[in-house]
Amino acid sequence: MIKLGVNIDHIATLRQARRTYEPDPVWGASIAELAGADCITVHLREDRRHIQDRDVTLLRQTVQVKLNLEMGNSPQIVDIACGVKPDQVTLVPEKREEVTTEGGLDVVNHFESLKQSVKKFKKLDIKTSMFIDPQNDQIEASQKVGAEFVEFHTGTYANALSEEDVDNELNKLVSVCELSHKIGLRVNAGHGLTYKNVQAVCKLPYLEELNIGHSIISRSVFVGLSQAVMDMKQILEKYS
Ligand code: PXP
Repeated sequence: MIKLGVNIDHIATLRQARRTYEPDPVWGASIAELAGADCITVHLREDRRHIQDRDVTLLRQTVQVKLNLEMGNSPQIVDIACGVKPDQVTLVPEKREEVTTEGGLDVVNHFESLKQSVKKFKKLDIKTSMFIDPQNDQIEASQKVGAEFVEFHTGTYANALSEEDVDNELNKLVSVCELSHKIGLRVNAGHGLTYKNVQAVCKLPYLEELNIGHSIISRSVFVGLSQAVMDMKQILEKYS
């Protein structure tokens, strides 16, 4: 069965709206884990708009499943990651003005600096994943840079409106999953996935894990976080 990584950033987004102590994403992580999450994912952004350094430190101490730290490849954040030692680092592109991660990491054009960071993480036994668009050149560069995983950005699939566009995006994802596996990379995916559009993604070959945030946290406002995680787990169980 495909594993579920629950991205809890938006619990912190709500807390930061008032700069108070609630809702605490650390509590959220425990609830998600008890409901069946296989991985807890957080993005420590340079502008600290949601997740704070304190959250990452506490999550490292309390999360029992895999802890996946999403981050841009900046020296300050790389140092923090090396200190915290999450189980996995997912390197993402990061722009201050964006609402969420827009597009995949350009591994081809940032090859050397990414290679240095992957090397640092490897020494500390931290697995590295590259969050990339479904493109062959980015996959090949991710393998050469020494990453263990790629995470395919599913945003274009999620935003596709016509049946034809959806099919094209799915076919593209099938082909990049196959290529990744062929050259020894492990495969994750995420971004923009919902309780509806995730069903087809579950059929992708070699897919190990999906990272899902916005849709789960949105549903949790109405049904509670446990139920929202269990509902998503049920879909992954049924369709993968
Ligand atoms: N994977 C990565 C690398 C991301 O940056 C995000 C968004 O933070 C997600 C998955 C989850 O995306 P969404 O919140 O749209 O489910």
